[in-house]
Amino acid sequence: MIPVVSNEFLNESVIRMVMEVPPVAKKALPGQFILVRTDELGERVPFTIADYDREKGTVTIIVQIVGKSTKRLSELKAGDHLESVTGPLGIPSHFDGVKTAAVVGGGLGTAIAYPQAKMLAQAGVDVDVITGFRNKDLILLEEDINQFARKQVVMTDDGSNGNKGFVTDALQKLMEENNYDVVIAIGPLIMMKMVCEVTKPFGVKTIVSMNSIMVDGTGMCGGCRLTVDGETKFACVDGPDFDGQLVDFDEAMRRGSMYRDTEQQKMEAHLCSLTGGVRSRVKNAKSVICKKKKIPCPRRIRMFVIRTSKR
Ligand code: FES
Repeated sequence: MIPVVSNEFLNESVIRMVMEVPPVAKKALPGQFILVRTDELGERVPFTIADYDREKGTVTIIVQIVGKSTKRLSELKAGDHLESVTGPLGIPSHFDGVKTAAVVGGGLGTAIAYPQAKMLAQAGVDVDVITGFRNKDLILLEEDINQFARKQVVMTDDGSNGNKGFVTDALQKLMEENNYDVVIAIGPLIMMKMVCEVTKPFGVKTIVSMNSIMVDGTGMCGGCRLTVDGETKFACVDGPDFDGQLVDFDEAMRRGSMYRDTEQQKMEAHLCSLTGGVRSRVKNAKSVICKKKKIPCPRRIRMFVIRTSKR
């Protein structure tokens, strides 16, 4: 069992969780990921390592609440435990000989871009960071990035931070003003595809981090399969970083949306139809308190009434 050290909301749908897992903290490097299972019945969900502290033995992940498992993660408090953590997995990022870099983070991808950009800056690279969000309430890690970035540009779709536009708009401008050795793009697949289209005419190497569906994380299940330069690769063992100009993004987007309906159904099934609260995971408990309303669970009372009225 893995203890949760802290768990905080960075915005309404994103949490930062620190867990105590010394063997992983000892070996973790930027670009790698872990597989987390919240309980014995839970799925193994991949999360990029956002930070680590070898002395304290802690690893940090940043999680967007998008489905049943991430919802469950967001409910955990300091002192609670995770069922298991596997890792570090994947090939660490290597940027030998790079002197200037542009790092692009889209939405939650910013949390994954952050450790890579920080690692580059600590290695003496001039790093410009571009991040993009739907609105200003969703902006992540702006202060943290300012600590090391040569320049940071934060874009919002609705312009609520005074900087309306997409990350690709800002990247195009910076590319025209600078000679980057590498561009790193991390975020939604469509964003990474568009970034590659911007960088292609400049001939600048563009690295993308493929957030594929993963199951075993060891290259055996094929869940994270993608096509790179016409060859089949597995994000968990061959990546997650790849040359963006060689990735078949259209195929990756088709595969990435395969389970969207199922995930949505799971989320809805997990919500109480009477109170809108999250249904308790306690089975056969005599009295269950609604987590949202703090009252005895009305579903169970209704089931009890129906059952006894039939006797
Ligand atoms: Fe199974 Fe990559 S997660 S092959």
